[in-house]
Amino acid sequence: MKQWYKTRKKDPFYIKAKKNDIISRAYYKLEEIDKKHNLFKNDKKILDVGCSPGGWTQYILKKNPKNKIVGIDILPTVKQIEGKFKFYMMDLNQYQLIDELFTFNKYTFDSIISDIAPNTSGNQFLDQTNSYDLSMLSAKFIEKYLNKGGNFLVKNFQGEDTEKLFKFVKTYFYKTQYIKPAASDKKSKEIYILGLLKK
Ligand SMILES: C[S@@+](CC[C@H](N)C(=O)[O-])C[C@H]1O[C@@H](n2cnc3c(N)ncnc32)[C@H](O)[C@@H]1O
Repeated sequence: MKQWYKTRKKDPFYIKAKKNDIISRAYYKLEEIDKKHNLFKNDKKILDVGCSPGGWTQYILKKNPKNKIVGIDILPTVKQIEGKFKFYMMDLNQYQLIDELFTFNKYTFDSIISDIAPNTSGNQFLDQTNSYDLSMLSAKFIEKYLNKGGNFLVKNFQGEDTEKLFKFVKTYFYKTQYIKPAASDKKSKEIYILGLLKK
């Protein structure tokens, strides 16, 4: 663990985040993807799955304070961010509860983004399986809660199920692609799947 902290402290994105009051280095991954694909235009409603500590939320509200975000995380560690941000502390595995809450509130979104990641165990197969399950649950929101023309972004720890997730996402969008942002650790198995323009 000590080695992990030593490496992290030398990481240029970690240093940049600390220097600029950015909540998490994940901020820069979303910034890079958004700069290329312009995901969050004015007055958009966005669902941020696995939003703690809040780097992605911070990015979206900084880009345009008029955007509205609903965030979900199992941890309460999300930072107070100024703007239209409604946080629910919930476990994505309790999908049905979240589904009921969204239906009750008549939520629909213009973008759904998910940086959700399980706690890693060191067992690559187990970590990939858990990541696949959480990414797939995130993708379940597309059908009912993503508006036509909307975009979807999800993280996944690459493994044999990643292609299955990609194919599932692809059925909903005009364009689907893999992305490995520069701020994503080269050694990490994480990869992002981006679906553009829901049919
Ligand atoms: C990499 S972090 C997200 C970082 C965030 N995008 C940011 O910019 O600060 C992954 C998050 O997924 C959350 N998570 C993991 N399992 C979850 C679950 N079952 N339900 C909800 N959130 C979960 C973790 O608590 C963690 O905050």
